[in-house]
Amino acid sequence: MQNGYRIPARVLHWSLAIAIIVMLPVGGIMVSDGLDRSTQNALFILHKNLGVLILLLMVVRLIYRAVNPPAPLPAHMPAWQKNAAGMTHILLYVMVFFMTITGYVRVSMGGFPIEALGAVGLHPLLPRNEAIAEIAKSMHFYGRYVLLAVMALHIGAALHHALVLRDGVFGRIWPFWRT
Ligand code: HEM
Repeated sequence: MQNGYRIPARVLHWSLAIAIIVMLPVGGIMVSDGLDRSTQNALFILHKNLGVLILLLMVVRLIYRAVNPPAPLPAHMPAWQKNAAGMTHILLYVMVFFMTITGYVRVSMGGFPIEALGAVGLHPLLPRNEAIAEIAKSMHFYGRYVLLAVMALHIGAALHHALVLRDGVFGRIWPFWRT
């Protein structure tokens, strides 16, 4: 029986984790006052294009997970913890999709380019609409706090397993050693 997550799932988990952690400060910095124009442009290009890559990798990850479900959590974990872990994982998926989709809507309905998609001939899927773009912008702004809260729960629980309980749960996803 596979102990925890398979290698492709671990690679997807850690590359997405790093990308999402990068997106949060980049998003905040690029809209801050006093930034010079070229730095702001570079950060916007990074944020939009990495964001679309995150959206695509999330779809790949969901499909991979449906085809290769992870092994069940260890029997010693109480049911409430298993349920809490499951709920947190669902919320993480929901919030990352929420952030990427509201970001995409804000940009494409606001009439701005997504350079990597344009380069491969993929033009905006949505018509220009300033009112909806503004709503998506607000949702994107507030969504970050919900995402941060769910990430804090997830990372806190993971560190508790890794450093305090040392029960092998962290090793199910960590790529560098086996438990
Ligand atoms: C996990 C994915 C994402 C995260 C965590 C994220 C996070 C953020 C954060 C924290 C901000 C700063 C909000 C503010 O202070 O106003 C921001 C702004 C922004 N994001 Fe994202 N973002 C993500 C995906 C995307 C995607 C996929 C796009 C577009 C394709 C995008 C486009 C934008 C734009 C245009 C802004 C500036 C909003 C404005 O003021 O017009 N984001 N993002």
